[in-house]
Amino acid sequence: MELRINQKTYQVDADADTPLLWVIRDDLGMTGTKYGCGLAQCGACSVLVDGNVVRSCVTPVAGVVGREVTTIEAIESDEVGKRVVATWVEHQVAQCGYCQSGQVMAATALLKHTPQPSAAEIDAAMINLCRCGTYNAIHAAVHDLAGHSAKGDA
Ligand code: FES
Ligand code: FES
Repeated sequence: MELRINQKTYQVDADADTPLLWVIRDDLGMTGTKYGCGLAQCGACSVLVDGNVVRSCVTPVAGVVGREVTTIEAIESDEVGKRVVATWVEHQVAQCGYCQSGQVMAATALLKHTPQPSAAEIDAAMINLCRCGTYNAIHAAVHDLAGHSAKGDA
């Protein structure tokens, strides 16, 4: 099947129900998208599909044919994604980093749809797990991106 990933076209030979995550990582060698739980629980595998965040571990590859997939490898070619990465660096969000590509994807999708999210909208969107407990830094970065004067303002 033919896939569009990071504005390039790929021909992929995979069963229709293969998780998109395996195609991205194993067939195409883009390892920035991580495997965490495989059960749609943690968000480590998050990618954008037509600008919406999806969990690629439970997304059949056939479901993204004809759609535009964006992974962490190309997120800085997106204007919003570029701002998110810069703010992540500014806030020194990452610890081990394993969950962070998924966190960046979640933040980018939120801010693309809602440029100035409220605190409640941030809480609702930023639900990916982080075993290092970087939640405070994640929320500070997203509040900064949302234009809030201080963490927690909305
Ligand atoms: S690996 Fe997909 S949600 Fe955890
Ligand atoms: S930074 Fe280590 S799991 Fe989130």
